[in-house]
Amino acid sequence: MSTTPPDPDRAVTVALLGAGTVGAQVGRLLNQTAADLAPRVGAPLRLVAVAALDPENPREGIDPAIQTSDARAVATSGADIVVELMGGIEPARSLILDAMAAGSSVVTANKALLAAHGAELHAAAADNGVDLFYEAAVAGAIPLLRPLRESLAGDRVSKVMGIVNGSTNYMLTKMDEEGVTYEQIFDEARALGYLEADPSLDIDGHDAAAKAAILAALAFHTHVTIDDVHCEGISKVTADDVRAAQAMGMVIKLLAVAERVPDGSGVIVRVHPTMLPRSHPLASVRLSFNAVFVEAEAAGELMFYGRGAGGVPTSSAVLGDVVVAARNRVTGSIGPARTVYAKLPVLPIAAAQTRFYVNLDVADRPGVLAAIATAFAKNGVSIQVVRQEGHGDNAGLIVRTHLASEEDLERTVEHLRDMDEVKAVLGVMRVEGEAGT
Ligand code: NDP
Ligand code: HSE
Repeated sequence: MSTTPPDPDRAVTVALLGAGTVGAQVGRLLNQTAADLAPRVGAPLRLVAVAALDPENPREGIDPAIQTSDARAVATSGADIVVELMGGIEPARSLILDAMAAGSSVVTANKALLAAHGAELHAAAADNGVDLFYEAAVAGAIPLLRPLRESLAGDRVSKVMGIVNGSTNYMLTKMDEEGVTYEQIFDEARALGYLEADPSLDIDGHDAAAKAAILAALAFHTHVTIDDVHCEGISKVTADDVRAAQAMGMVIKLLAVAERVPDGSGVIVRVHPTMLPRSHPLASVRLSFNAVFVEAEAAGELMFYGRGAGGVPTSSAVLGDVVVAARNRVTGSIGPARTVYAKLPVLPIAAAQTRFYVNLDVADRPGVLAAIATAFAKNGVSIQVVRQEGHGDNAGLIVRTHLASEEDLERTVEHLRDMDEVKAVLGVMRVEGEAGT
């Protein structure tokens, strides 16, 4: 097969849709590092247009003459690569589709869009023979999606489990290390600008759920959208839960988990607060850092760690995608696309088997422990550990279970709430990261 040799004088053109926190850094770094990037690409990279709501706003390292508010003109300009960093669903979705129809490869960091309309965007990329890359959409600077799509293409991934939302990890770290309440740290995180403009995207788990859908689709070669993800946020995590976790040598993290069920018949994708043993590698991921733990049949356990947000770190992942897409333009090829051939069913959370922690306030008198144990047993939930502490006339009882279904655990909790011996169910949370049943 003969290929046309690349033309070293032809620049690869790049247009930016959005020049905010991430886009401004991508534009600046693309210009600043152009001399280094050219030999990596095999041709010079040239930033030719930048769309922003306010094009008069000066952006360091970006020529004001190429800034415009006409995003559609930029999207349809026929630039080799269009980089979408506006965020949101519309007009980002239609601008990306227009860019692809005009023959441009697309790089984006837009997790919300990919988790809702990934199938449509991938199909459009295939139809138009262009690349669609989005390394920055999950865990910011951390190289994660390309390893899943390319490096692990010969392996069989069984589970992906990670901390993919930095702001909630910051909040949970402070609650664990400084004993502050959820309400106190929410105000601090907001004041520090760590939370999205709509904080519910972070604290209710929607941002992590979008990332979980993207990870699951790549890991299991299956179409997964954000609507398939079971999602619980951190707003119900109490100081009692944090203290109970500490007493058990555990820490609470908001985890995104995507796993094959043991018989391989489907996948479950879930986001929820989780207790992890302090010895687990994800337990030591503090503050706004992200980390993702991957289990693959041949490779075993792998861990990816780094900065999950911020303009400069995120721009590293975006520029990495730009360089790969640019190389493909130079060689007249396109990179490997996401495959969804496996078509595994995405199962409801009811199909998940996890361990649970249950925190109870109970009467402190003979026979109570036996009654509680019977309630668990009657509902098919096996107890792994019980820890008791005196609380005046009452006792605090922390129960950790073996693997149990959501349904059995819910029935157990209902049963406990109806018992005279139980004054209050103070907390229920899933536990991950322990071996065995
Ligand atoms: P910003 O809100 O900071 O920037 C958005 C940019 O888009 C701004 O430059 C804005 O213009 C421009 N814009 C918005 N709407 C339009 C429009 N209709 N026409 C033209 N320009 C428009 O967002 P971020 O940089 O924080 O995020 C960009 C993307 O990257 C999002 O998808 C986000 O989820 C993702 N991401 C962000 C991370 C981060 O740390 N911030 C980390 C990982 C991913 P103007 O500047 O004039 O307001
Ligand atoms: N709100 C996100 C976070 C930004 O806290 O991780 C990066 O995607």
